[in-house]
Amino acid sequence: MDEVTSTDLEVPVLIARKRDGGELTASELSALVGAYLDDRVDDAQMAALLMAGVIRGFTEDEAIALTDVLLASGDTVDLSMLAGPTVDKPSTGGVGDTTTLVVAPMLAAAGCQVAKLSGRGLGHTGGTLDKLEAIPGFRVDLSPAELRSQVEDIGLAVAAATAELVPADKRLYALRDVTASVPSTALIASSVMSKKLAGGAAHVLLDVKLGDGAFLAEPEAATALAELCVRIGTARGRRTGALVTDMSQPLSDAIGNALEVGAAIEVLAGRRGGRLRELSVALTAAALELTGRGREEAATLAEEVLATGAALERFRAFVTAQGGDASVTDDPWTVLPAAPVVEEWRPGAGHVTVTGCRRLGELAGRLGAGRRRAGDTLDLAVGLELLVRTSDEISGDTVAVRIHARSADDVAAVLEELPTVVAVGAEPVAARALVHGRVGLD
Ligand code: URA
Repeated sequence: MDEVTSTDLEVPVLIARKRDGGELTASELSALVGAYLDDRVDDAQMAALLMAGVIRGFTEDEAIALTDVLLASGDTVDLSMLAGPTVDKPSTGGVGDTTTLVVAPMLAAAGCQVAKLSGRGLGHTGGTLDKLEAIPGFRVDLSPAELRSQVEDIGLAVAAATAELVPADKRLYALRDVTASVPSTALIASSVMSKKLAGGAAHVLLDVKLGDGAFLAEPEAATALAELCVRIGTARGRRTGALVTDMSQPLSDAIGNALEVGAAIEVLAGRRGGRLRELSVALTAAALELTGRGREEAATLAEEVLATGAALERFRAFVTAQGGDASVTDDPWTVLPAAPVVEEWRPGAGHVTVTGCRRLGELAGRLGAGRRRAGDTLDLAVGLELLVRTSDEISGDTVAVRIHARSADDVAAVLEELPTVVAVGAEPVAARALVHGRVGLD
C-alpha cells in the first residue's frame, strides 16, 4: 500500500468512506492524526470522522493502527532494566473505583513492580492522582528516573502522566468527550492500550467495566472491548489479560477523593470487606496469573499479602517515598481532609436496587469531588458513602447514604435526588455478579 503523506490527504473523502462503512488504512489513519496534531485537519473534520467510526464501527486492523499512531505521537517509558515482573492494571473507569490504591501495593508485596502513570478524573469517574493528593504532602510529579528508582526500592510508584505521554490521545479524548464519541470499542481500546504500551509494563491486566457507571453498559460490548484490548496488547508483545467487571453499582462504599483513600486503606488494613476488597483480590490474582503463577497459587498469594499486612506495609512505604504523611495508614480519618457537613439518608424498609450508578458519581462531582471540565479545582474532602447495595434488605433505620458536603445547601440538593438513584421496593432483587468474565487468562 502506498504511503499517504499528510499533504495529499483528501480528508472529506476519508470521512465519507468511514461514513459509508469503509475501512481506512494504517497509513491514512497515521496521516490524518498527524495532520490533526499539526492543526491541518480541524476539530470539525476529526469529530465527523470519529462519530462516523462510532456509528459504523472500526475494524480490528484500524484499532491496532490507531493504537500505533497514538503511541508514536509521544514519549514511552522504558522499564526493561527492572528486575521483577512489571505489571500495570488499568481500568476503563467507573464510580468509586479505588482498586489501584489497593491492588498496586498488593502486587508489590507479591514481588511485582508497578510503575503507574495515572491521570486525573474527568466527568463521573475519579482519577487516582486526585485521590492520592488527598494525603497531605503527597506528590505525583515524579521524573521518569525517580519513578524507576522508587519502583526498584519498594516495588511501586504512581506519577502523573506528562503531557508528552501519548499527546494525540489527550487531544482526541478531549474532542470525543465533548462530541459524545467516547463509547466506541475501537476508540476506547486504542486510547487505553496506547497509554499502557507507552507506560512500559510487560504485563497488563485490564479491568473492563460494564454497566451504567461505565462507558459501555452492555455485557457484549464490554467483553468485545476486553477482547480487543487483549489482542492489541498481545500483538504488541505484552502479556495481556482482562477481567470484565460490574459497574452497575459503585465499587467502593466511598465516592470522593479522601473518602476513597480512607476506604482503600481500611481494605489494606483488613478492617473493611465488600466489593472493593473482593475485586482487588480478583484483580491481583489475575495479574499474578499473567506473570506465570497458577490460578490457585495466585488467589492464595493475593489473600496472603492482605492477611499478613505486607500490602499495607508497601502502601506505607509508597506514601512515605512520595512525601505523604504515612500516619494516614494508621488512622486515615484523622489525617485526611474532612467535610464540614455530614448528613445521613434513611430511605425506609425494603429491598434495595441501585438504579443510578453514574448519577451517584455525578452527584459526588456536584458536591465538588469531580470536575466538569479539565482544570477545575476539586474539593478533596467531599463525597458520598453508599452503605447499601442492590439485593440488600434493609430496615427503616438503615443509613443508605452518608453525604459529606461543604454546605447544607449542597446536602439538600443531593438529598432531593437520592430517591431517583437508590430505590427501595417490596420485592427481592438479584445483584449482578462482580466478575462477569475473564479474557486472555487460562
Ligand atoms: N479511558 C481511556 O483512557 N480512554 C477512553 O477512551 C475511555 C476510557
